[in-house]
Amino acid sequence: MEKPAVAEPADPPPYFQAHVFVCCNRRPDGHPRGSCAARGSEKLRDYMKVRAKELGLRGVRVNQAGCLDRCEFGPTLVIYPEGVWYRPETPADVDEILATHLQAGGRVPRLMLTEKDVPPPKR
Ligand code: FES
Repeated sequence: MEKPAVAEPADPPPYFQAHVFVCCNRRPDGHPRGSCAARGSEKLRDYMKVRAKELGLRGVRVNQAGCLDRCEFGPTLVIYPEGVWYRPETPADVDEILATHLQAGGRVPRLMLTEKDVPPPKR
Protein backbone atom coordinates (compact mmCIF):
# COMPACT_ATOMS: atom_id res chain seq x y z
CA MET A 1 0.00 0.00 0.00
CA GLU A 2 1.33 3.35 -1.02
CA LYS A 3 1.78 6.07 1.52
CA PRO A 4 -0.09 9.25 0.81
CA ALA A 5 2.12 12.10 -0.38
CA VAL A 6 2.92 14.52 2.39
CA ALA A 7 2.89 18.14 1.41
CA GLU A 8 6.18 19.81 2.28
CA PRO A 9 5.90 23.27 3.74
CA ALA A 10 7.18 26.02 1.48
CA ASP A 11 10.65 27.28 2.23
CA PRO A 12 10.72 30.64 3.92
CA PRO A 13 12.23 33.44 1.85
CA PRO A 14 16.01 33.84 2.12
CA TYR A 15 17.05 35.81 5.17
CA PHE A 16 19.89 37.51 3.28
CA GLN A 17 19.79 38.63 -0.31
CA ALA A 18 23.39 37.47 -0.67
CA HIS A 19 25.51 35.54 1.78
CA VAL A 20 29.27 35.58 1.23
CA PHE A 21 31.49 33.01 2.87
CA VAL A 22 35.20 33.79 2.89
CA CYS A 23 37.45 30.89 3.79
CA CYS A 24 39.85 31.85 6.56
CA ASN A 25 41.16 28.40 7.33
CA ARG A 26 44.84 28.33 8.22
CA ARG A 27 47.05 25.30 7.95
CA PRO A 28 50.65 24.98 9.09
CA ASP A 29 53.29 26.26 6.68
CA GLY A 30 54.32 23.60 4.22
CA HIS A 31 50.99 21.75 4.22
CA PRO A 32 50.53 20.21 0.76
CA ARG A 33 47.10 21.77 0.23
CA GLY A 34 48.08 25.17 1.53
CA SER A 35 45.35 27.30 3.02
CA CYS A 36 43.42 30.43 2.26
CA ALA A 37 44.59 32.28 5.37
CA ALA A 38 48.19 31.58 4.41
CA ARG A 39 47.38 33.26 1.07
CA GLY A 40 45.95 36.37 2.69
CA SER A 41 42.24 35.65 3.03
CA GLU A 42 41.88 37.18 6.50
CA LYS A 43 42.88 40.63 5.25
CA LEU A 44 40.60 40.25 2.24
CA ARG A 45 37.69 39.23 4.50
CA ASP A 46 38.27 42.24 6.73
CA TYR A 47 38.46 44.52 3.72
CA MET A 48 35.31 43.06 2.20
CA LYS A 49 33.32 43.47 5.41
CA VAL A 50 34.37 47.11 5.74
CA ARG A 51 33.73 47.94 2.09
CA ALA A 52 30.33 46.18 2.04
CA LYS A 53 29.31 48.30 5.00
CA GLU A 54 30.69 51.50 3.45
CA LEU A 55 28.80 50.77 0.24
CA GLY A 56 25.60 50.28 2.23
CA LEU A 57 24.90 46.91 0.66
CA ARG A 58 21.58 45.97 2.20
CA GLY A 59 20.85 42.29 2.62
CA VAL A 60 24.46 41.30 2.03
CA ARG A 61 26.24 39.39 4.76
CA VAL A 62 29.96 38.66 4.64
CA ASN A 63 31.02 35.83 6.93
CA GLN A 64 34.25 34.09 7.73
CA ALA A 65 34.16 30.41 6.91
CA GLY A 66 36.26 27.40 7.71
CA CYS A 67 37.75 25.30 4.95
CA LEU A 68 35.52 25.20 1.87
CA ASP A 69 37.54 22.28 0.42
CA ARG A 70 38.89 24.04 -2.65
CA CYS A 71 42.10 24.96 -0.85
CA GLU A 72 44.39 24.63 -3.84
CA PHE A 73 42.58 27.53 -5.50
CA GLY A 74 42.52 29.85 -2.51
CA PRO A 75 41.92 32.33 -1.27
CA THR A 76 38.35 31.27 -1.95
CA LEU A 77 34.96 32.75 -1.30
CA VAL A 78 31.49 31.64 -2.33
CA ILE A 79 28.36 33.72 -2.73
CA TYR A 80 24.92 32.26 -2.11
CA PRO A 81 22.21 31.79 -3.18
CA GLU A 82 23.96 31.65 -6.56
CA GLY A 83 26.77 29.38 -5.37
CA VAL A 84 29.31 31.33 -7.40
CA TRP A 85 32.92 30.93 -6.28
CA TYR A 86 35.69 33.49 -6.59
CA ARG A 87 39.40 33.62 -6.00
CA PRO A 88 40.23 37.22 -5.07
CA GLU A 89 43.88 38.02 -4.52
CA THR A 90 43.82 41.75 -3.87
CA PRO A 91 41.56 44.42 -2.39
CA ALA A 92 40.94 45.60 -5.96
CA ASP A 93 39.61 42.12 -6.76
CA VAL A 94 37.27 42.36 -3.77
CA ASP A 95 36.08 45.78 -4.95
CA GLU A 96 35.31 44.32 -8.35
CA ILE A 97 33.28 41.45 -6.84
CA LEU A 98 31.37 43.87 -4.63
CA ALA A 99 30.59 46.26 -7.48
CA THR A 100 29.94 43.79 -10.24
CA HIS A 101 28.38 40.79 -8.52
CA LEU A 102 26.82 42.12 -5.33
CA GLN A 103 25.79 45.59 -6.49
CA ALA A 104 25.08 45.11 -10.17
CA GLY A 105 24.11 41.42 -10.19
CA GLY A 106 26.78 40.57 -12.76
CA ARG A 107 29.76 38.25 -12.64
CA VAL A 108 33.53 38.63 -12.65
CA PRO A 109 34.61 35.76 -14.89
CA ARG A 110 38.34 36.40 -14.54
CA LEU A 111 38.11 35.68 -10.80
CA MET A 112 35.57 32.86 -10.86
CA LEU A 113 36.30 29.26 -10.03
CA THR A 114 34.64 26.88 -12.44
CA GLU A 115 33.61 23.25 -12.40
CA LYS A 116 37.10 22.49 -13.71
CA ASP A 117 38.74 23.84 -10.57
CA VAL A 118 38.65 20.62 -8.59
CA PRO A 119 41.18 19.60 -5.95
CA PRO A 120 43.18 16.43 -6.61
CA PRO A 121 41.60 13.25 -5.23
CA LYS A 122 42.18 12.62 -1.55
CA ARG A 123 44.29 9.64 -0.57
S1 FES B 1 41.72 26.35 3.22
FE1 FES B 1 40.32 27.59 2.09
S2 FES B 1 39.18 26.18 0.95
FE2 FES B 1 40.40 24.95 2.25
